[in-house]
Amino acid sequence: MTSTNQTHSYPGRLICFEGIDGSGKSHFCTKLSEHLTAQGLKTLVTHEPGGTAVAEKIGDILLHFKDEALEKIMDETELLLFFAARCQHINNLIIPKLQEGYWLLSDRFTPSSYAYQGAGRGLGWDKVQALENYLPPLNPDLLLLLDLDISQSSQRWQAQATRDRFEKMLQKNGDFFASVRQGYLQYAKKYPSTKVLDASLPEDEVWALIKKEVAKLS
Ligand code: TYD
Repeated sequence: MTSTNQTHSYPGRLICFEGIDGSGKSHFCTKLSEHLTAQGLKTLVTHEPGGTAVAEKIGDILLHFKDEALEKIMDETELLLFFAARCQHINNLIIPKLQEGYWLLSDRFTPSSYAYQGAGRGLGWDKVQALENYLPPLNPDLLLLLDLDISQSSQRWQAQATRDRFEKMLQKNGDFFASVRQGYLQYAKKYPSTKVLDASLPEDEVWALIKKEVAKLS
């Protein structure tokens, strides 16, 4: 969130879903897109790291680099790469689509960097803030945080066949994800416009809460 805390003035809307791995972001992103499309709105689902060709390539390094025995990705490098991908995403996809009046639904955005790199990796708030300030100011119209405790989150994605670098960490180090969750909750405290939803509720109840928040935007 930029210091003014104000949203943008483009005709479209930016709705961001946040939460630890397994919190259901992707599911609700798709569901909301179908719901808004049925109302005749131009919608587009996007995600971080990714959303453009270059950002996807950067994301591939971040999520799937396998040679860490040869060279470890430094935490600072990780943070810089997430922001490099975000720079492409904001400038080459998000802003142009907002200008065209799209409702963009992003599965993750800047708060992920506060939670995962700032809190999870322990880089601290200020480094993330400095990079956020370096990019064009862009606050979402709605930021939904799907909050879930760590044991429930790991149960949900344990069935998945593949693991990215972050999910492998949860297998080894549950504390990392506990810090990420606390990072998100601190973010929400600092920016009370964040809507914190209890993602452990039954799916239809979470969905009802999401629709209620989204209805306030039109
Ligand atoms: P991905 O497999 O794309 O999916 P999901 O968002 O559903 O978990 O994983 C993205 C991973 O990248 C996820 O573990 C969180 C991490 N991440 C960060 O650490 N910092 C960031 O700024 C972003 C955008 C993601």
